[in-house]
Amino acid sequence: MNTEFIKADDSNGIDRAALILKNGGLVAIPTETVYGLAADALNGEAVAKIFKAKGRPMDNPLIVHISRFDEIYRLVREVPEKAKALAEKYWPGPMTIILPKSDIIPKEVSAGLDTVAIRMPSHPTAKALIEKSGCPLAAPSANTSGLPSPTTAKHVLDDMNGKIDAIVDGGECAVGIESTVVTLATNPSRLLRPGGITHEQLCDVLGEVEIDKAVLAQLEAGVKPSSPGMKYKHYAPKAEVSIIKGSLPEYLCYIDAVHEDGDMALCFDTDKDKINIPYLTFGSENHPEEQANKLFSALREFDEMGAKRVFVRAPSSDGVGLGVYNRLLRSAAFRVINAPKIFGLTGQTGAGKTTVAKHLEQKNYFIIDGDILAREIVEKGSPVLKKLADTFGNDILDENENLIRSALAEKAFSCEENRQKLNSITHPAITEKALRIIKENFDKNYKGFIIDAAAIFDSKLADYCDKMIVVLADYETRKKRIIARDGIDENTADLRINAQPNDQYYIDRADILVRNYGEFTIDSELKSL
Ligand code: TXA
Ligand code: MG
Repeated sequence: MNTEFIKADDSNGIDRAALILKNGGLVAIPTETVYGLAADALNGEAVAKIFKAKGRPMDNPLIVHISRFDEIYRLVREVPEKAKALAEKYWPGPMTIILPKSDIIPKEVSAGLDTVAIRMPSHPTAKALIEKSGCPLAAPSANTSGLPSPTTAKHVLDDMNGKIDAIVDGGECAVGIESTVVTLATNPSRLLRPGGITHEQLCDVLGEVEIDKAVLAQLEAGVKPSSPGMKYKHYAPKAEVSIIKGSLPEYLCYIDAVHEDGDMALCFDTDKDKINIPYLTFGSENHPEEQANKLFSALREFDEMGAKRVFVRAPSSDGVGLGVYNRLLRSAAFRVINAPKIFGLTGQTGAGKTTVAKHLEQKNYFIIDGDILAREIVEKGSPVLKKLADTFGNDILDENENLIRSALAEKAFSCEENRQKLNSITHPAITEKALRIIKENFDKNYKGFIIDAAAIFDSKLADYCDKMIVVLADYETRKKRIIARDGIDENTADLRINAQPNDQYYIDRADILVRNYGEFTIDSELKSL
């Protein structure tokens, strides 16, 4: 079949599309939510062709689209006051109402149920086609069943070319996810599918509205869904999608720890500069309408980019976000991963980081000791040690080619430039090692990971820390402690302490400040971890 491509502003084209619909053909039409694959809702044979073109299971009923409220009267058995109130407030728009059906609804539309779904779209082209064809239009989303719904005419063409009579191109859909579906056939009314009209908006009109269990959870095997569409695989690109819950640092850490070739990220606009793998964005974190608008397009684009796995930064499920989260859950086949909680632990040398680390270890945090990592990466024969010797001279090595730490420290802490050289060689290796440890211990039920490292703020590890715990103590206490601990003389102790930033530097960067003057006390913020 040749699929005609018609622009929405081509009035002759619109007339032809209306005629195709009137004569029992299939036309993909723009609506404000997603593109619909339309046929005359009262012509069972025409409607059956929709199922064939989409590969849609026959037991999944369709939405009937109308352009004027009074058309509803012949489609349903009775129009309750609640339906009138909803329509008054939210029609035309992204909301579908389910009511007991009248006898003129063909069995193909209702898929054997005794109810029918009705919507009045606000898109001018959809409205014009309903009016010109003179038919209420049955229209599911115009995608191949199981794929993300189409939000541009190109998406429709990708799925439906050669399978339907025409596609009307009305540009990009404004809402981007399908309509809110609410049934008035239950008491209380129930939200079956969240969308552009929020649960709160429904409650404003109806009072109590239940949220169907299937909105945010996978149905157990054998449970009959209130809406047949909920049991099918949905919105899924070829890639394996996972939703990653956590702050931006935790999300980054998860990705950097696990990623392989072919992995991509779906993140918020503001995250993108920090993502180290190919990514697409889906709007800003606090703007669910924007996320809805971009979601399906992005899911389709990942296929074109050849993504094997997609890690999605979990959006909030408030307001329109409930619709976004509901679609994402299904595209991810309900794979939701809690990114590990990661805190940085730092402070001046001798301030008492180790004491704090021990306290957190007792609370089931996994401690990653930066000092140990720093030692391991410079083991005999390691590439890092070789680079250090090339940079600072072979006299940092003893006769067995082992590092003489004091020799390195003397050189590296002698001036700022050398300190930076040291960091640029050791930090990447330490980061990689820390990530490997986190990855190996993801699933071991730790409350979180603590990266205990002195110079964490100038290392990449800081990007992974959701909060920074900083331990401070007065100069004399620290000096006494490091002399006793490291067996160094006063001069060396002064040098080391003075090579570190001052109190204010740490205070400015701390989320949780532990003042370890004299005796160690656990303050309430630390207690809450
Ligand atoms: O925004 C939309 O609603 C788009 C545009 C084209 O209007 N249409 C759309 O249709 O998303 P579709 O078929 O992809 O999704 C309709 C959903 C399905 O989950 C279906 O199971 C449910 O509505 N549904 C339809 N009639 C129903 C009924 N009588 N009872 C329960 N659920 C019903
Ligand atoms: Mg659909």
